[in-house]
Order: sequence, then C-alpha cells, then structure tokens
Amino acid sequence: MFIDVSRIPVTGNARIDQAHRDLAAMVNVLFEQWRDGVDGAELKAGFELFLRAVGRHFAEEEEIAAAAGCPNVPEHAGKHNALLVALTSHVHALADLTESRVGDRRIDLFSLIDQMLYEHEMLDDQEFWPVLSAVGHSVDVPADAPLIVWSRALETGHAEVDRQHRTLVELLNGLDAMVRRQAPAVEASELLGRIIDHTRCHFQWEERQMAGIRAPGAAAHRMLHAQLLTDMTEAVAATGGVPTLDLMQYLKFWFIDHIRHVDGDLARSLNAMAAASARPGQAPSGPPGWSPRREAFAG
Ligand SMILES: [Fe+2]
Ligand SMILES: [Fe+2]
Ligand SMILES: [Fe+2]
Ligand SMILES: [Fe+2]
Repeated sequence: MFIDVSRIPVTGNARIDQAHRDLAAMVNVLFEQWRDGVDGAELKAGFELFLRAVGRHFAEEEEIAAAAGCPNVPEHAGKHNALLVALTSHVHALADLTESRVGDRRIDLFSLIDQMLYEHEMLDDQEFWPVLSAVGHSVDVPADAPLIVWSRALETGHAEVDRQHRTLVELLNGLDAMVRRQAPAVEASELLGRIIDHTRCHFQWEERQMAGIRAPGAAAHRMLHAQLLTDMTEAVAATGGVPTLDLMQYLKFWFIDHIRHVDGDLARSLNAMAAASARPGQAPSGPPGWSPRREAFAG
C-alpha cells in the first residue's frame, strides 16, 4: 500500500470521505501496477482515469459544501482547479519521457500525488468539517431543483456537441425527477436503459468525429468513454436496474466532468478543423457526416 487510507482526515460528509478513500485506493492500485512492471500505456491510461475521478470528486465536493453552507467554497474551487491542473501536467509529462528515464520519475510522481492530495485534504477540506459534521452525512438538495442546471460552464463551443449534451442532460433530469417522485420502477428503469443507449450512441458519434479529423487525444478519449459505459453498467447493476438518488448523483458528476474536461478538447479540434476548411482556396474537409454502415441495413 502506498497511501495509508487510515490517515485521511474525515470531513463529516460520507460521500466526500468515501471519495477520498476511493482516490487513495486508485493511487495504491496504480502504484502496485507500476511496481509489478505493468505496460507504460496501461499505466498512463490508469492515470487518466484517476485524473477524471479527481475532477468528479472536486465537482461533487464543491456542490455538497455549497449546499451545506460551508464558507469559502469559490476559493476552495479555485484550489481544486489549480490542483487538477498541476496533477494533469505531472501525469502528462510522463508521456514525454523515454522508457529508460521514466522509472525514476514515476516514483517521484506517486510521492507528489500523495503529498498533494494529503495536503489538500488536511489543510483545505478540513475547513468544511465544522459545517459538514454539524449538518450530518446527507445534504438535501431542494426538491424542485433539476439534477443538472445547464450553464455556460457546460458549453464546449461546438453547436452539435452542445446540442447532444443538452439532450442528455434533459434525459438525466427527467430520470432524476422520476426517481424523486418515486415513479414506478419499471418506468424509471426503462428510461435509464434508454439513457445508456443514448449515451453509447453519442459516444460513437464523437468517436467518429475524432477519427475523421485524426483528433489528438482520441485514444484516451475513447478509453474514457469505454470506462464510463462500464462504470455506468456496473453502477446500474448494483442498484438492480432501478435508479436511485445516489446513482443519479454518480451519473451527474460523471457527465459534468466528461463534458467539461474531456469533450472540450474535441470541440476545439472540430472548430479548428472547420475554421481551416473555411479559409479561401481550402478544399472542404473535416469529420464525416452521418453515414451508417451498409450492413446496418442488411438482412
Ligand atoms: Fe476532497
Ligand atoms: Fe477539496
Ligand atoms: Fe460528449
Ligand atoms: Fe466524450
């Protein structure tokens, strides 16, 4: 074990405390993989998943702290952003190192991640403890508030990407409303199934766009889609296929994090490609439009 989970201080909120333990467990698994000599690409993929888990935790923590009335949440969010940027740059720097030099740097990286998380949880997250421990383990969200409020922060700047995301957000909000009013389980699980299919289809669309413009980072983006679908399927299976409020929170932070921190790069690549194609004298090029495979109609 690299990080001793027992030394992580509690904040007084069960979801935040569980997320802190889960992040430490992820680092411990990555450390063991590194020590066992796992393939560099696999380790890097694991670090990408870790970064996304950190991003989701930060977003959830900020929301819980704000809902509970904790002080200095905007400042805390600024620290989260800085921490995520720093962690991301350290992880990405690994990709630029040759295999022979990478070993020494990775042990440094593990120590750095441990130190950064521990310091933040000890010095910053503890600021929430007096409020969160008084509020208790659950922080109520107003009954009529949608699960996800669409805002400019969720816009990627690419009209079609944003349109598809808004549809997904509306579906999730609809399902959340169903869960809250305790709609019949069969109706809620039908909509949940539809959301998973819709998500899979949206991911395939994005992956086709990435392939069409040879977008940088496409492999990592595809991996995160696959991971999200696997996680979603597992989380749904854990509820017996019937969505719960906890599952909705889980889905919410997965989607927000993916839209804000992953799809933004795709949108920028698509916009850059469209701008280049629009220049005078430039032959139009870009991602393929919708062209279903012929075999889709076979039989
Ligand atoms: Fe935290
Ligand atoms: Fe925090
Ligand atoms: Fe997306
Ligand atoms: Fe995506």
